[in-house]
Amino acid sequence: MESYLKWSVIIGLFGFCYSIDTQYMNEACNGSSVIDTTLLLETSKSLSYPPLMNCFHRVNVASGFKVHVSVERFELEEKMANACVDYLILYDGADQNAPILNSEVTCGKTAPENVTSSSNILTFYFKSDHSSALRGFAFVVTPVTDVPCSSSQLQCNNSLCIDASLKCDSYNQCGDKTDENDCQVIGSSKIDDSNTTLIIGLVIGITILIAIIIAIVINVYKNNKWKRFLNQHLEDPDVWNASPSYPVTQKYFTSGRGNYNTLSNENYNEVTLQPHSEESIHNSEI
Ligand SMILES: *[C@@H]1O[C@H](CO)[C@@H](O)[C@H](O)[C@H]1NC(C)=O
Ligand SMILES: *[C@@H]1O[C@H](CO)[C@@H](O)[C@H](O)[C@H]1NC(C)=O
Ligand SMILES: *[C@@H]1O[C@H](CO)[C@@H](O)[C@H](O)[C@H]1NC(C)=O
Repeated sequence: MESYLKWSVIIGLFGFCYSIDTQYMNEACNGSSVIDTTLLLETSKSLSYPPLMNCFHRVNVASGFKVHVSVERFELEEKMANACVDYLILYDGADQNAPILNSEVTCGKTAPENVTSSSNILTFYFKSDHSSALRGFAFVVTPVTDVPCSSSQLQCNNSLCIDASLKCDSYNQCGDKTDENDCQVIGSSKIDDSNTTLIIGLVIGITILIAIIIAIVINVYKNNKWKRFLNQHLEDPDVWNASPSYPVTQKYFTSGRGNYNTLSNENYNEVTLQPHSEESIHNSEI
């Protein structure tokens, strides 16, 4: 019973807590990504970004799309002597010769806002100095188009169109959270209200319910063993002898929850008549 529950919970959690494709800038330093639906771009896998990073990362999306960047986390070193020591630059193209998208150099906790490229290529550049112990950034990078959206797309309130499958994946691809509104919340993650999720939820719920009912039935059955024993016709020695599940022992009388005292004389005499159980009945007397 406990393992039923455990597995239901594990399967349930596995279904709901998933993550999107992730790229770490220090691992893919001066590398590039081709993005199909969405990508999480983080400074590094570790809790704080490494010192002396000097990395470009170029992202490409299908032609006809633009690259939209929304902020999940942004925590770089603060300015020193009025200048950023660790900083991020977003280039509207394939390299550092392209125009810069974030109007001012971004550091501290001031994340670049509402960044959308003008073509299907955007390049990130990140530089850290010799000291850093901050968490760095995590961006959700997503191919978008302008309105009108196609039938396989979701229209964000800010007039961008993203892939419809990104609704309620717990990442804010729209940038204005339109895609994460109206989602059912389970724990800290979210599920959408599509039929598939509804069915998975129902199956898990029903499995847990059945497991609980089975446990209750088993419990009631066990607790009533002694009651059934007292109600049983004991005249027939065959029934008595052939029932190893009704051993008349001290332990059994105890687990009968005081029913030993209510054992009628009539039944008691019948029990003692059985040679098989005589010894155990004597044992349990006083
Ligand atoms: C990445 O490219 C920049 C510019 O070409 C270079 O200065 C830097 O050392 C490179 N980083 C690595 C880790 O290769
Ligand atoms: C959409 O944006 C408008 C203003 O631009 C705002 O009034 C409205 O509340 C927004 N809707 C949602 C669902 O965010
Ligand atoms: C970002 O986009 C939102 C929604 O389109 C808008 O309300 C806000 O003013 C924009 N912020 C900047 C800094 O452009």
